[in-house]
Amino acid sequence: MASSKKVLLGVTGSIAAYRALDVARLLRQDGNDVQMVATRSALRFFPRLNGEVFTGHPVYSELFDSNGGGVRHIELADRSHLLLVAPASADFIAKLSIGLADDLLSTICLAVTCPIVIAPAMEEKMYFHPAIQAHLETLRSRGVHEIPPEKGSLASGKEGVGRLQSPERIRKEVRHLLNMSDCWSGIRVLISAGPTYEPIDAVRFLGNRSSGKMGYALAESALSRGAVVTIVSGPTSLPVPIGARVFQIETAREMEETMCREFPSHDLCIMAAAVADYRIQSPSGAKRKKDGTDWAISLTENPDILAGLSRKKKPGQFLVGFAAETDMDSSLLIGKSRRKGVDILLANDVSRPGIGFSSDENDLTLVTPLGEVLPLGRNTKRILAGQALDEIRRRWKSVEDGS
Ligand code: PMT
Repeated sequence: MASSKKVLLGVTGSIAAYRALDVARLLRQDGNDVQMVATRSALRFFPRLNGEVFTGHPVYSELFDSNGGGVRHIELADRSHLLLVAPASADFIAKLSIGLADDLLSTICLAVTCPIVIAPAMEEKMYFHPAIQAHLETLRSRGVHEIPPEKGSLASGKEGVGRLQSPERIRKEVRHLLNMSDCWSGIRVLISAGPTYEPIDAVRFLGNRSSGKMGYALAESALSRGAVVTIVSGPTSLPVPIGARVFQIETAREMEETMCREFPSHDLCIMAAAVADYRIQSPSGAKRKKDGTDWAISLTENPDILAGLSRKKKPGQFLVGFAAETDMDSSLLIGKSRRKGVDILLANDVSRPGIGFSSDENDLTLVTPLGEVLPLGRNTKRILAGQALDEIRRRWKSVEDGS
């Protein structure tokens, strides 16, 4: 599978550094042009010459040297299609998370616009240390891909999680990401996320338990694949994914207005938001005071944004809806996908504890109006988002290719 992409291979100080040579060899076998940048500590684990033989290029490590090192980080950053750091040490992960740029590799990491992939390697206790896990979480939220370490024998001689993934597995992940970024590069994705709040009076509202995690995970996955992402977000406490354009809205009607305005300039639209089906007919501008009597509130139906978008859909656009269900009957789901006019419906059972609203995990089933039903299984929302995007792209591409 020749890809002829420019892969920048960062190597940091770890006993596993020598395995980066194998990674370089395998990536070159796939037709990639591999350029290695090693930290000073990495070069204590293998001679620079080995890196040069395995990549066919000089191995750089200094930010400042007499051969034009001063702008080298920009040149290397600009020309790369993917930056892989394998192995990524605990020290390097911390640096990357806080944006420290005190050597060539960490400086390049701040200058690249291509996807960044890290393959950590360290002792198990270090990997699971809350500081490292928090740094990894920060990096994931910025769209950095992690190839998690595997279980095996570690430098200390102990068995545990922390061993660099096999070069073969790293090659597969890189292949996948390069293919994916080819498929997604420049694609404009519009995602709705979070709840809507329908005002009752000046201080009260009708809302729901959506946290926005599912929609934001989709946005982060699409960004890390090279897509251009717009989020239309109800109120959430989540950080804005770096690189996304975000419109903050509160009510279903505000969401409808923003989605309808943005929809024509996007290729793919995913409605992950939990839109309130009803709003208060006449919300009061003032705070209603207690007066010892009951309070009857009259609700009126909100527009169905998704069904409205499906009527506006142009050839080439692809529309994905979610379904929050308590009954996952396939024929009901297929019927709903047809009624909503979507290309794909991603259904989740919101009556099950631990998944759906607010939780970090979900269990999605992909359904199409043609009757396909594909369980994606239970996983973190982040992983499911990646799987869902891969499945969406595959089906969308076959529509484009007419197959
Ligand atoms: O945000 P999280 O805490 O991560 O939770 C994720 C989630 C449970 C909210 C998400 O996975 C999900 O199921 N989102 C859709 C929730 C929903 O409104 O489902 P529904 O079956 O009521 O609606 C079906 C589809 O129509 C959805 O794509 C919805 O966005 C859309 N809709 C619904 C009502 C409405 N008035 N307009 C719409 O466009």
